[in-house]
Amino acid sequence: MEGLDEWRRKDWVTVRGVPMVCAFSPNWERIDEFQVREDDLVVATYPKSGTTWISEIVDVILADGDTEKSQRDAIHNKVPMLEFCAPGYAPPGTQQLEDLPSPRVIKTHLTVSLLPKSFWEKSCKVIYVARNPKDVAVSYYHFDLMNKLHPEPGPWEGYIEKFIRGAVAYGPWGAHVRDWWDLRNQLGILYLFYEDMIEDPKREIRKVVKFLGKDLTEDVLEKIVRHTSFQAMKQNPMTNYTTLSSTVMDHSVSPFMRKGISGDWKNHFTESQSRRFDEYYQREMAGSELSFRFQV
Ligand code: A3P
Repeated sequence: MEGLDEWRRKDWVTVRGVPMVCAFSPNWERIDEFQVREDDLVVATYPKSGTTWISEIVDVILADGDTEKSQRDAIHNKVPMLEFCAPGYAPPGTQQLEDLPSPRVIKTHLTVSLLPKSFWEKSCKVIYVARNPKDVAVSYYHFDLMNKLHPEPGPWEGYIEKFIRGAVAYGPWGAHVRDWWDLRNQLGILYLFYEDMIEDPKREIRKVVKFLGKDLTEDVLEKIVRHTSFQAMKQNPMTNYTTLSSTVMDHSVSPFMRKGISGDWKNHFTESQSRRFDEYYQREMAGSELSFRFQV
């Protein structure tokens, strides 16, 4: 596709110490100067932690469960990604967001350190979703295989080491989940876990409904659970990313909606890789109240 060749399979580019998708890195002032609005809702995650899932949940809650309305556009247009940029291919996320009427839902994977200045001046709502790092690493590996804006991930064995070193887009997983966790009381962030959403989606959706100040009936809640199930979102072209060109995401390599389970890491980690990763996890979580479930 025209304009994309320049960005395809390029290595990460460091933005203030954080490895970033090369295509997203030019004109970083657009992020620094982006104006957050008081009534924005920010959906923040480390990549592959359930961003698309929570985005669709939020969109349909804001539509009071009107699933027809939620079919109005693809998820990446309804909930634009703040830092997205691919000059010559699509408008940057900042432009898409500026053009959206309030209330906007903003997706971002940014580290706390890279948030726009206005984020600290406006008290908008934030939902953060975190997922256990073994499943994140497996999901990220498959995503790097299919997403042509990312460098080739190389063999799985070496990828685990890259993940542990934080040599993946947005840097180390541990610092990301911890920094957002540490902000949760100060900013009133709703901090959710992918594993809890898998365990009891209705319970977690209820938390989001309350956080957004909505009051929905049991029937509407159940409709939202069905609409945002993995199977429904995998079939739905508005949520499964198949509307993007295959020159960007090649679903024949690995579908975006891949497995949608907790514990798939067991199919990918050897015992020694798992032990090594457990040590890494213990180091990352030392001194933090945060803890993750590796299977539900
Ligand atoms: P897997 O690769 O493990 O299947 P993100 O949206 O942050 O990129 O996360 C993508 C991960 O969330 C993928 O994980 C994807 O399958 C999973 N996912 C997306 N929608 C989901 C849903 N409705 N239920 C469960 N998992 C979902």
